[in-house]
Amino acid sequence: MLIKNVFKRFGGVKALQGCSLEIEKGKITALIGPNGSGKSTLFNAISALITKDRGKIELEGEDISRMVGYKIAKKGISRTFQEVRLFKHLTIRDHLQIAISDDESLIKSFLVFDGISDKRIQEVLDRVHLDKPLGTFVTDLSYGQRKLLDLAIAIAKPHTLLMLDEPVAGVNPRLRKVIKEVLVRLSKEGETLLIIEHDMNFVMDLADVVYVLDEGRVIAHGKPKTIQKNKKVLDAYLGE
Ligand SMILES: Nc1ncnc2c1ncn2[C@@H]1O[C@H](COP(=O)(O)OP(=O)(O)OP(=O)(O)O)[C@@H](O)[C@H]1O
Ligand SMILES: [Mg+2]
Repeated sequence: MLIKNVFKRFGGVKALQGCSLEIEKGKITALIGPNGSGKSTLFNAISALITKDRGKIELEGEDISRMVGYKIAKKGISRTFQEVRLFKHLTIRDHLQIAISDDESLIKSFLVFDGISDKRIQEVLDRVHLDKPLGTFVTDLSYGQRKLLDLAIAIAKPHTLLMLDEPVAGVNPRLRKVIKEVLVRLSKEGETLLIIEHDMNFVMDLADVVYVLDEGRVIAHGKPKTIQKNKKVLDAYLGE
């Protein structure tokens, strides 16, 4: 995916000021940067949750800049949100049935409730190491377990690109490790990942390429080891 010169203003706030990135297939690209640097806004611009002021986004050579959100999702972009978005009164099974179903069978899976087999759902849960009965309601999951379910949903949706907004935010060190291993495995299986992370250390031994955003601009990109020593990057973080 190519992101070219994206701009976005919210009133007087210049959230994105000419953002350009290249997301390589089969690699883990990390997007880091201080609070308010525009990371989530860039995700929202890519998935057309907000309209860009300017800029172009290409997915496998196709211009998706003016496509509506659901069409972009259908093109194969699956994403999570910084704040876990789940339905309180639905179970793990319900969520994954919806995620796995395509638009056409969605209504059917709601009505019949047996569109997707439990075996298929269990497979997805196993991949993220969420060890809870399928009938468990979201309200009975811990914060960390909700993060895992959220990740499972993103993985379960048919996709070619997985975009994760802070997949380990607020989770304990043990679960961070588990999630990191899940991401490494996905990558080894050939997935293309774009991961937002606030903590530079988390992506150092995970990402192939790191992009650093500051005030809506890419101030550096490259291999994690190089980025770690970059003065502009250190200044951006220390100045936070
Ligand atoms: N819907 C919105 N309306 C108004 N301002 C917004 C909106 N979304 C984001 N902003 C502003 O745009 C800037 C970038 O926000 P964004 O959420 O993209 O940052 P971020 O890099 O994801 O930060 P964090 O690490 O805290 O999640 C911030 O100043 C924010 O207040
Ligand atoms: Mg954010």
